[in-house]
Amino acid sequence: MEKTIILKIGGSVLTRKNIQKPSVRKKLLREIIQNLKKLLASEKNLRLILIHGAGSGGHTIAHTYNLSHGVCDDPIKRIGALKVRYANQILNEKIFSICIDYDIPVVPLHSGSLIGMKKGNIVYFSHTILDLCFKNKSIPLLYGEMVFDEETGMAVCSGDLIAFYLAKKYNASRVLFASDVEGIYSEDPFKNKNASLIKNSSLKDLVKNKKITLSGSHNVDVTGGIYNKIQSLKNNLSPSLQDVIIFNGLRPENFLSLTKKNPPGTKIFFS
Ligand code: ADP
Ligand code: IPE
Repeated sequence: MEKTIILKIGGSVLTRKNIQKPSVRKKLLREIIQNLKKLLASEKNLRLILIHGAGSGGHTIAHTYNLSHGVCDDPIKRIGALKVRYANQILNEKIFSICIDYDIPVVPLHSGSLIGMKKGNIVYFSHTILDLCFKNKSIPLLYGEMVFDEETGMAVCSGDLIAFYLAKKYNASRVLFASDVEGIYSEDPFKNKNASLIKNSSLKDLVKNKKITLSGSHNVDVTGGIYNKIQSLKNNLSPSLQDVIIFNGLRPENFLSLTKKNPPGTKIFFS
């Protein structure tokens, strides 16, 4: 039977998020795509959904135009939102072009044209296009984007939210986040070098344990780092989901292990 997994490659992996000018890690990206190709060749029954983040380009513009609470009929913010979209499309195009170089049938599906939100929740999604994409034996590639919102005009839709929304819709058994940390630590390892890596945790323990601090990104970021990933997970739990993995995407070899029982990183489970 076909197994569905969702991989979100964070902007912290794709770009140097601490440099405000868009700076794509092209060599790493090539290595990641080559390893994904190897994985797909060895896993014939895998249905993969790919999502990417915005990284330095989109986040810096969204921050500059103060877009965290949407456009709200502000003409300056409206143009800012479109500048974010442009930056995201440029990043998307770079990933697409590498996938084509390696003959992988990855199809960019522009999130801004498929998704509608209301007060920060996804309330509309053009599933037919995704279904046709699977039928055409292709791998959809979506991304965190400024999307239309019924209340705020246009709002930030993170790749994290898209990942959990689609996990529910397509009965994914696993969602993986490639990020710039080895996994979830007792607190942000960029802020405390002595923070300890959590290898396994139930979702309940992760949010209840007072010794664990989940916070925003140490980089310029309008969507809230690890904290937002766990909030999005809590709000969009899916019965099909067996675990969620957060792993270091700066190590390309980790992309060969996406389907292993115990891949590198932190495993969050639900029992
Ligand atoms: P991505 O761009 O890969 O989606 P984010 O920047 O949104 O990733 O989130 C990753 C960041 O979350 C890390 O770089 C780190 O600064 C921050 N973070 C906050 N709390 C933690 C924690 N407890 N463990 C690991 N990282 C954390
Ligand atoms: C951000 O998406 C989308 C924007 C419009 C800024 P993400 O939150 O998924 O991006 P990364 O992974 O943190 O860069």
